[in-house]
Amino acid sequence: MKLWKGRFSKEATSSADAFNASIGFDQRLYKQDILGSIAHAAMLGKQGIITSKEAEEIRLSLLELLHEIEAGDVEFTVEREDIHMNIESILTERIGDAGKRLHTARSRNDQVATDLRLYQKEIIDEILSLLSRLSETLRELSQRHKETVMPGYTHLQRAQPVTLSLHLLAYDQMFSRDIDRFRDCRKRTDSLPLGSGALAGTTYPIDRAYVAKELGFSAICENTMDAVSDRDFAIEFISCCAMTMMHLSRFCEELVLWSSTEFGFIEMDDAFSTGSSIMPQKKNPDMAELIRGKTGRVYGDLMALLTIMKSLPLAYNKDMQEDKPPLFDAGDTLRDCLSIFIDVISTMDVCTARMEVAAKSGFMNATDAADYLVKKGLPFRDCHEIIGRMVLSCIETNKAIDEMTLAEFAEFSELFEEDIFEAIDIRKRATR
Ligand code: ARG
Repeated sequence: MKLWKGRFSKEATSSADAFNASIGFDQRLYKQDILGSIAHAAMLGKQGIITSKEAEEIRLSLLELLHEIEAGDVEFTVEREDIHMNIESILTERIGDAGKRLHTARSRNDQVATDLRLYQKEIIDEILSLLSRLSETLRELSQRHKETVMPGYTHLQRAQPVTLSLHLLAYDQMFSRDIDRFRDCRKRTDSLPLGSGALAGTTYPIDRAYVAKELGFSAICENTMDAVSDRDFAIEFISCCAMTMMHLSRFCEELVLWSSTEFGFIEMDDAFSTGSSIMPQKKNPDMAELIRGKTGRVYGDLMALLTIMKSLPLAYNKDMQEDKPPLFDAGDTLRDCLSIFIDVISTMDVCTARMEVAAKSGFMNATDAADYLVKKGLPFRDCHEIIGRMVLSCIETNKAIDEMTLAEFAEFSELFEEDIFEAIDIRKRATR
């Protein structure tokens, strides 16, 4: 039986019910929905809108239901459309009139917005704690590799020598900006919509501050129309997820390259690699590739919600029911990616010797050689030209710059002295 059946003279068809329902994906909001209802009922009781006995009956029955849902003992139905009406119907079946009074001074519009914000605060906290674990992992790794010299790249061409530590800490910077962004997004998520009713508030003497405090919100949504029709907080959250996925994806791209035979800079742990069903020799970096691939999914989630919202007139529209799949998917995907990524990087083997060999070829000390001449008084452009000629000759004789003798250096400029060898030592020059 529908909770809104009064005005209707015909039942919805089963296909209309199935199409209209969101219970398939919004049932994961059961906890937020129940806690929201308990706080709402307590407020109604405190304000004398329902009796305190009724409020207590509602609380006890909802807590019991919560445990049953958690134990997997409750079946939801599409006829009851969504998590809100499933829970309210079960409650009413169990406690009768008190259950029917729960929805006083409330609409599903402020209810669902409240559930979503409660949910989002939780997932943000989970993501924040994973991000700080990731940052710790990166800092530990970089501490271990302060002296591991490797090529730094631009255009994926060897450019200047760096340490693995510097490279890893570049990612740590990105993730620390991500942490800031999620914290900032959490602030805007932390406002209570409940009390806004369907769109125009309510005439009952409700106490929103009390509900906010009970549910742990630090503010109350000011404008009732905005409160029920705003999904900026969710778009912002998915956008934060998309940005973090982009960072993970760049890192994964490097891990995939680095684990190829061509680079040979790292070897992923067997526990986080996969084999081929046909080629026995293969060891594939699937985890990193999947994170890179799932980035596309989260970008899709962001586009989906932006597009769902783009032409909705105020206030609530049923289109907004479609906000949940992308919101849940973005959070789940990022959470799973972060957690597997931490495992991948904390178990991989770094082939420091291969990195160092790579750092020594490719003339990455050419800029240092040019800077050496600058210090001896030559203008940089002239130095650039001289070293360019020197590199060309090294390519022809198949030598590295630091394999040249002082006499060979002198052919390019008499400013070179014995200290040139120190100035172009890759180990010493690598930026840390
Ligand atoms: N299941 C709905 C949603 O997620 C709840 C709100 C329904 N409100 C309404 N006025 N039909 O958006």
